[in-house]
Amino acid sequence: MFAALAHRLPPETAHGLALWCARAIPPLPRRPRPRLATALAGLPLPHPVGLAAGFDKNAVAFRGLLNFGFAFVEVGTVTPRPQPGNPPPRLFRLVEDRALVNRMGFNNDGIEAVAARLARRDRAAGVVGANIGVNRDSPDPISDYLTGIERLGPLVDYLVVNVSSPNTPGLRDWQRPERLAPLLSALVRRLGERETGRRPPLFLKIAPDLDPAGEEAIVTLALDAGIDGLVVANTTIARPPSLRSPWREEPGGLSGDPLFAPSTELLRRIARRARGRLALVGVGGIDSPERAYAKIRAGACAVQLYTGLVYEGPGLLRRILDGLERLLDRDRLDRLDQAIGLDLEARAG
Ligand SMILES: Cc1cc2nc3c(=O)[nH]c(=O)nc-3n(C[C@H](O)[C@H](O)[C@H](O)COP(=O)(O)O)c2cc1C
Repeated sequence: MFAALAHRLPPETAHGLALWCARAIPPLPRRPRPRLATALAGLPLPHPVGLAAGFDKNAVAFRGLLNFGFAFVEVGTVTPRPQPGNPPPRLFRLVEDRALVNRMGFNNDGIEAVAARLARRDRAAGVVGANIGVNRDSPDPISDYLTGIERLGPLVDYLVVNVSSPNTPGLRDWQRPERLAPLLSALVRRLGERETGRRPPLFLKIAPDLDPAGEEAIVTLALDAGIDGLVVANTTIARPPSLRSPWREEPGGLSGDPLFAPSTELLRRIARRARGRLALVGVGGIDSPERAYAKIRAGACAVQLYTGLVYEGPGLLRRILDGLERLLDRDRLDRLDQAIGLDLEARAG
């Protein structure tokens, strides 16, 4: 019902309305689902389903979204200074394809405003991560990422370095080994230098458009640098020939249904290379319990979604959780963590 109403509004207006509603959600009684418990780089999660970056860019609604039942919420992408992003229209519904194209361009309130909101949070209310990026006109991107780590690291449970948005010119070049290696070591060094408090787990969010050499290099560099995991994946710049919507040629990142297969295959290849040494978050095209479960069987310890909510509405979360319990029964598994990477073992054996 919510999705049908929201689709009468322009996409960005609908998103604003959804955020506004989400802010007001009070803590709701939750059915415990002990079989679905999992962990994200050591962070205990009540179940594996989180909200992907980009929905609550400015950390205005994460409390309500945790109250609604997400196991974790990733705020951001946040850049050091506030910036308006690209001119609208910059978000398109590809209804026929159950997809979105966005070229938001890191519109956000900046790190100080977001830090002030996160500082007031009740840590016991649930897991919150921060996704950090660079200002479009930054003369020194490494220093932007370091600012993100220093300012937001102490306030969140995990950090994600975003080198994969297609909407900030040059950003994805940071995935190239000769740039990624110094970036990751600078970030890990800076985290290690912080004397107070616990070091939050550090993730890298990657694009689904890497070539095989790029995939291999990222796993090697992530392991060498000692980061905790990868978020697989961001939106794609590819446009599969199957797309039918009139908006399919709009520049930007494609998410939703057409991203499911490529992002899950990438996840599986990365999981094979990482062999349990990196925590993997599976994201891209999840709109059903079967798809969430497929990411877990492909090696994800947790999953995130965004576009699925636009087409399925907020009831999707509950449907996924109920469905995951059914799928565990089908596979005769007691707990979800027994399903992580199951497809990899099956193939290997
Ligand atoms: C409107 C919109 C804005 C997004 N903004 C961000 C962002 O700021 N940072 C980021 O890392 N990912 C961003 N994403 C990507 C999502 O986090 C996710 O990786 C991608 O949409 C694939 O998941 P999905 O198919 O479930 O939507 C955005 C996605 C959408 C649709």
